[in-house]
Amino acid sequence: MSAGRDDQLTLVAFMQASNVSVYSGSWRYPNSAPDFLDLRYYQRIARVLEDGTFDLMFFDDRLAMPSIYGGSPDDAVRYGARPVKMDLTAVLGAAAAATSHLGLGATYSTTYYPPFHVARTFATLDHLSGGRAAWNVVTSVNDAEARNFGVEQHLAHDERYDRAEEFIEIVTQLWDSWEDDALVLDRAAGIFADPAKVHEINYEGKYFNVRGPLTVPRPPQGRPPIIQAGQSGRGQRFAARWADLIFTADPSQAVALEHYKAQKEQIAAEGRDPGAVRMLPMVYAVVGETEAIAREKENIFLNELVHPLASLTLLSELTNHDFSGYSLDDEITDELIASISGIRGLVQGVKRHLGGGKLTLRTLASHRASLLQGPRFVGTGEQIADQMQEWFESRSCDGFVLAATHFPGAFEDFVRMVVPELRRRGLMRSSYSGSTLRENLGLARPTSSFAKPTA
Ligand SMILES: Cc1cc2nc3c(=O)[nH]c(=O)nc-3n(C[C@H](O)[C@H](O)[C@H](O)COP(=O)(O)O)c2cc1C
Repeated sequence: MSAGRDDQLTLVAFMQASNVSVYSGSWRYPNSAPDFLDLRYYQRIARVLEDGTFDLMFFDDRLAMPSIYGGSPDDAVRYGARPVKMDLTAVLGAAAAATSHLGLGATYSTTYYPPFHVARTFATLDHLSGGRAAWNVVTSVNDAEARNFGVEQHLAHDERYDRAEEFIEIVTQLWDSWEDDALVLDRAAGIFADPAKVHEINYEGKYFNVRGPLTVPRPPQGRPPIIQAGQSGRGQRFAARWADLIFTADPSQAVALEHYKAQKEQIAAEGRDPGAVRMLPMVYAVVGETEAIAREKENIFLNELVHPLASLTLLSELTNHDFSGYSLDDEITDELIASISGIRGLVQGVKRHLGGGKLTLRTLASHRASLLQGPRFVGTGEQIADQMQEWFESRSCDGFVLAATHFPGAFEDFVRMVVPELRRRGLMRSSYSGSTLRENLGLARPTSSFAKPTA
């Protein structure tokens, strides 16, 4: 069993099956690989991450092009502000085939996919990868996604979470619907499986009715780990109830420290062990052989590659709010923030980070483009390891979701220069201790809720 919270960092690579990383100017960086439509691109990155003994290669998702800004996707397409999002099932299948221990996480929406489909997708991936799948449960963000699924308007914020509660209850029951010993495989007697151990779930809720059983036997991990990144009060409650890994968007260590404490208390209030749930803030690392090289790279990313319209396009997308009618000097007032139906916490986080004073659209957009809601660690491998250690040891986090300025170079640099330093300090392992993702995270394997307790 691998080390738990108390001695080692949990490290997740934040991936996009897209023309860009979360940094929307990344496609312009000369060192970015251009073959993001090719299977080998994802396999190459997966191998780099496995060499660096990352816990998880995690892909975000969005089910529409950014098109809230000005009511059109034109700027997203023109400036490459994330107009491409490929389906993750095929991408993770490719990554699974190229690796043997790396965890493989994908985002699937509870608002736009049916629960049976999601349960089947992750059960399949878990089998094919030998127990390495994880599901990031999102409720989705905006009206552009709604319109791609025949709905005019995105569901209201808290109702999305109510629906997600039912959704995840169904998915976990479907994963449990085959008991672990349901397969008999008796060729001589002609008995494939024991029907007494394969169950209908007969779920009847406010949003869904699902009969089951799942058409895939119980996943190797029992239940693939759940990732959640809710930042609102309702989102944090949902995460406290369900998540194994919680991703956060805390703009500074001070905010993270407070968030960490509050979220862990909420997990305990749900009757769960707070030590078994990892809080992982999203951060960037810009690594160089010397500090000067790292600073020079950072400067290119900050000042030279993101078109202002690409930044506003993504800001509108994430907040579900059209900023095209505003001037850059307009103030983002508290009333305006309260009317945001997308990721409201994103704007609140920037405001808090800047000390709570007057916030203009210009400032918000530039923070969105560069800081991207995540702190940046810049410097040599040793300097970055120092900062990560400080966050970890002060209990501001249990590890990190490492976002990339560009692919695959940002991860290659990290694995070459930072990982050896973290290993030297005993903060990272040098080989995987388990074979499934759960084992490597030190998480117990749940028994099926349909299994009869053994006497
Ligand atoms: C690291 C990280 C990754 C996320 N990935 C996705 C994603 O892939 N798709 C998505 O719709 N939302 C994603 N989100 C947004 C969250 O699911 C959530 O909607 C957001 O943090 C706002 O929280 P709230 O819904 O509780 O207001 C991500 C958030 C973070 C911090």
